Amino acid sequence: MNARGAFRELYGYEPAGIWSAPGRVNLIGEHTDYNEGYVFPLAIDRRAGVAAAPRQDGVLRLATTAPGSAAAEIKVAELVPGRLAGWSRYVAGVHWAFGVRGIDVPGMDILLDSDVPVGAGLSSSAAVECAAALAVNDLAGAGLPAEDLVLLCQQAENDFAGAPTGILDQSASLLSQAGHALFLDCRSRESRLVPLDLAGEGMSLLVIDTKVGHAHDSGGYAERRRDCERAAETLGVASLRELTLPDLVLAAPRLERKAYQRARHVVSENARVLTVVAHLEAGRPIRGLGQVLSSSHESLRDDFEVSSPELDLAVETTVAAGAAGARMTGGGFGGSALALVNAAEAGQISAAVKRSFERAGYADPEVFAVEPGAGARSGD
Ligand code: GLA
Repeated sequence: MNARGAFRELYGYEPAGIWSAPGRVNLIGEHTDYNEGYVFPLAIDRRAGVAAAPRQDGVLRLATTAPGSAAAEIKVAELVPGRLAGWSRYVAGVHWAFGVRGIDVPGMDILLDSDVPVGAGLSSSAAVECAAALAVNDLAGAGLPAEDLVLLCQQAENDFAGAPTGILDQSASLLSQAGHALFLDCRSRESRLVPLDLAGEGMSLLVIDTKVGHAHDSGGYAERRRDCERAAETLGVASLRELTLPDLVLAAPRLERKAYQRARHVVSENARVLTVVAHLEAGRPIRGLGQVLSSSHESLRDDFEVSSPELDLAVETTVAAGAAGARMTGGGFGGSALALVNAAEAGQISAAVKRSFERAGYADPEVFAVEPGAGARSGD
């Protein structure tokens, strides 16, 4: 990562500091965050770095090392939702969200350098927001704790960038620690870190980036969110989190088929998260999680209907080639799948996926292993 060097080159002086934040994969707990349920993500070893320095004239200058991405310049006082497009709205949205909280934010020069793949469902936007939030928090002397920054970044994403997402991605980026996954209850916002020693058990977590971009500020994601809210309303509960599977079976006659399926995904997925966390906390082998990961995929594919042919093929092929289990990760409609594999078989399983994509005439997927990485911090 070279945010500092790029800053110096572009702006001609030293930045006041560097802040960085990771992307994430969600091990399990998909489309549960906005239903006040459970999630279990981990930060990955790919990060967004922000080099920043305050300016005295209230101007915000934004630039990135990403090829073909335009720079932006705007006065902090003129930040309003809808004024910016592309990557810069994630940084500017964070400035705006500090302002909404009555915190006086100076102008800044900012340089972004990220190696989180964009559009791959690995939360590249949350990584940018969280790195920017740490920078602004320090440079404006705001001193907000990480839990508040989660909500601030979510507000930037929802109200400034226009994607109606939950708190999964920002929590993973801000609260994770290396070597752990993060168990988060999205209703109480209580979280705890659970050790995940993949390498120690000879396991590897493969990400299969299908190269089919996803976007959560358009159609499907918001529609699923509405489906869930309507189902909860019909059943007279504050959120689908309130329900168990037996409750839902009894309530089935009151829901239309589609609403029932959506709710069944959320309720069963919450149960799967608890199963996974209990399994790991009891010290059982990571490999034993394979089946529950695959069940999560089936539920997302059949009940929640957010998978894609590419994601399904990635899951089928990795499992057929020996993965313990596999599932799409993130919001779906494209993006990435993950597969839990024996580290010794990772090469052969990656090759099998690549061959199957070629045979199907799909774009060549990128397949790489991720390690539970460090959360957001001051520094690279
Ligand atoms: C996206 C959103 C998250 C979450 C997931 C689905 O990643 O940003 O808030 O809803 O989809 O689990």
